[in-house]
Amino acid sequence: MSSVSTVTAYNVVAKTLHWLIGLAILGMLALGWIMTDMPNTDPAKFSLFQLHKSIGVSILLLALVRIGWRLTHAAPALPATAKPWEIKLAHGTHYLLYALMIIMPITGWVVISTSTFKLRTLLFNIVPWPAIPYLGDLENKKEIHDLFGDAHGIIAYVIAAFVALHAAAALKHHFINRDDILLRMAPRFLHGLLKRLNGTAIALLLSIGLLLPGPAHAASHPWAVDYKHSGITFTGTQSGEKFDGDFKKFTANIDFDPNHPENGYITTLVDITSATAGSKERDTYLPQFEWFNAAEFPQAKFTAANIKSTGNDCFLAPGTLSIKGISHAVDLPFCLRVVDGITYAKGQVDLSRSDYNIGINQWDDDEMVKKAVKVTINIAATPR
Ligand code: HEM
Ligand code: HEM
Repeated sequence: MSSVSTVTAYNVVAKTLHWLIGLAILGMLALGWIMTDMPNTDPAKFSLFQLHKSIGVSILLLALVRIGWRLTHAAPALPATAKPWEIKLAHGTHYLLYALMIIMPITGWVVISTSTFKLRTLLFNIVPWPAIPYLGDLENKKEIHDLFGDAHGIIAYVIAAFVALHAAAALKHHFINRDDILLRMAPRFLHGLLKRLNGTAIALLLSIGLLLPGPAHAASHPWAVDYKHSGITFTGTQSGEKFDGDFKKFTANIDFDPNHPENGYITTLVDITSATAGSKERDTYLPQFEWFNAAEFPQAKFTAANIKSTGNDCFLAPGTLSIKGISHAVDLPFCLRVVDGITYAKGQVDLSRSDYNIGINQWDDDEMVKKAVKVTINIAATPR
């Protein structure tokens, strides 16, 4: 299996197969346990067995496609910070899960192929599925039936245990190590949500609850922001002339150790109604529907985690900016300067107002008010 690679994320084929098969297996464990617990008199039992066989055979076929795909495509390498035992455990679990994806349905197939009932299998009530040839004619088929039935039941627990380990590791990487292991397998539409969840109470609960080793156990580094000397300003262009604006009210929740930026996180809430833009006319327009629609969306939010050092006291914070209910990934570069014990962070980012539907209808062009807006963030803070 080609494993070391230069790719940095799983692509859509790998993700689709992972989640399709993964969720199907979880559903099948539940279905298997529920259906075998049902009394034979329950009329639903027969249909649930048929459904179980249909999904089980689909998993077998999808797993073959998946393994074929995986043999011809590289997976992203684990982060350089991963310890050798972690890499071994992760790869070992992955190999085992691939094997179980095949072994589990095959043991089920043996069970039905050696059944004394000789029922025909129609997948999803449509596609005929054969029994494994010759098995049904063996003299000791009853023993084989019982043996594989037991194996099928035991392997179910093995799958459940390793999937639990695997999922716990993925969550630990996301919420405790705060790396991108979960994100590179997660569908894109969940990235915003997963990043927002990260750095919240969940991380704390997990780190206390699971007592797993990891950087989250390093002390946190919260900062007290001096709002009098901090500001979020922006520069736009109207009729060819530059103008400045600012947001008078915002709160920034920062946990950041410059020596371990990867553990840091930032959550900033901006009060949209506090925006001014340097002229009476613009200030009247700003909260209106076409611009910020402040009545409906009074708050903008920026969250970032997994911060990287770019050298010379400068950093890059990969984050998500949400304005007017629209979220986009925004990377905020910033640099630190310490003067008289106060740390000043300055960051700047270029945005397009139309990405967030700011200035719609008659304003939705680059003529009167340019779409490009430069946002500058200045934070003065001291360690708490
Ligand atoms: C239910 C929660 C699950 C979560 C959160 C999860 C998460 C992940 C993540 C983040 C990766 C990528 C690891 C990396 O980048 O190195 C991954 C890979 C993998 N997962 Fe899962 N997974 C789940 C369920 C399952 C299930 C049920 C199976 C199958 C039994 C499965 C089988 C695999 C395999 C075989 C890989 C390795 C992919 C490769 O590199 O070839 N996962 N999973
Ligand atoms: C990855 C796929 C599969 C999973 C996760 C799975 C899971 C399970 C589980 C948890 C049970 C209950 C075990 C017990 O408590 O005794 C079960 C029973 C059963 N499964 Fe599956 N199964 C899968 C695939 C299949 C396939 C493909 C077939 C047949 C084509 C099949 C046929 C059966 C049968 C006949 C039973 C009842 C066994 C008995 O009563 O002893 N399974 N399965």
